Amino acid sequence: MQFTLQTRHKKCEVHVGQLSSLIRLLMPSNRCIFVTDDNVFKIYKDFFIDKETIVVDNGEANKTLQTVHEVYNQLMKMGADRKSFLIGMGGGVITDLAGFVASTFMRGLRFGFISTTLLGQIDAVIGGKNGVNVNQFKNIAGTINQPDFIINDPSFFKTLPEKEFANGTAELIKHYLIADAAGFEWFKGNFHLFTIRDPEFMANLIYHHNKLKAGIVETDETELGIRKILNFGHTIGHAIERETKLPHGFAIAQGMVLAAKISRLLGFTDNHTVMEVIAIIERCKLPSYSDLPIESIISSLGADKKKAGNKIDFVYLESIGKAGIHTMSLDELEKIVKQIFK
Ligand SMILES: NC(=O)c1ccc[n+]([C@@H]2O[C@H](COP(=O)([O-])OP(=O)(O)OC[C@H]3O[C@@H](n4cnc5c(N)ncnc54)[C@H](O)[C@@H]3O)[C@@H](O)[C@H]2O)c1
Repeated sequence: MQFTLQTRHKKCEVHVGQLSSLIRLLMPSNRCIFVTDDNVFKIYKDFFIDKETIVVDNGEANKTLQTVHEVYNQLMKMGADRKSFLIGMGGGVITDLAGFVASTFMRGLRFGFISTTLLGQIDAVIGGKNGVNVNQFKNIAGTINQPDFIINDPSFFKTLPEKEFANGTAELIKHYLIADAAGFEWFKGNFHLFTIRDPEFMANLIYHHNKLKAGIVETDETELGIRKILNFGHTIGHAIERETKLPHGFAIAQGMVLAAKISRLLGFTDNHTVMEVIAIIERCKLPSYSDLPIESIISSLGADKKKAGNKIDFVYLESIGKAGIHTMSLDELEKIVKQIFK
């Protein structure tokens, strides 16, 4: 399955299928250099045997400018030049990092992604946002630049730990909630196939989500409008993530429930929608409530204030499959969060 993501400046070929056959088709004749993490390198060592590869330590803590610097150094040592082609192969940390390195090394190399996690395939590789964290803040240094190709092979899920699968699940629920009521019903109706990671079902699911996110990105690549709805549950979710060090998906799941409850208190949605959100999150074995003290959430939202000023674009839910943006002050948001925790 394949489609072209077309933005103003660039075309990106998105493929869902078997890596072994696709890589032969897509790998350019230029010198190709792979960037991956130590986990993926170890698990898929046979794949890397005949490939020039830069290996970095796995995990979010390594999505930093220091790792970018290390990769630049390695590229220079290898004698990479402007014609070299970079391929990021791994989860979202690696594709975000590799995209940033490729966009900046020698003023820009061409690049491609091979995504190996559910979160990566559903979300991180689509849309051209590349970048790294600075201090505790996510994706502060970054670019928007599309790769030449993306390969999403669902057979990578065979080795993906449950916790990592759950991280991706939270993002796919988000897509249904904000933009896809029909997909939501299809997902619920085929839930068993999802839990066993059925390869054919997963391929269809990934393709569907890639088309959905691509549609949003094509309309608003630089997030001036509609693309903002992809942040549903993330303002509070990131605050919870920072305070608890919970896995991203678990924090976002709680953030989405809180965002739904806030939407109800603001009068945008009804109780039935909130209950639907809670039900799907619990069915996916993600946490639907946070036992974090309200003070911690508030103080973490306060950290956002220092970074982004007092105004935020809060993404509210109207009904399943329909979201909107309400600009409000963080003070107002804090007040409503307090009301929920009363
Ligand atoms: N660019 C975007 O638009 C966008 C969107 C969403 C998320 N992200 C970013 O994505 C990152 C999270 O991505 P992630 O959840 O994929 O995390 P990750 O890249 O850290 O991968 C999670 C873990 O799984 C391991 N792993 C990867 N593939 C595996 C496989 N097939 N089998 C076994 N283990 C495997 C990795 O080594 C790592 O330890 C965050 O930094 C987030 O900011 C970016």
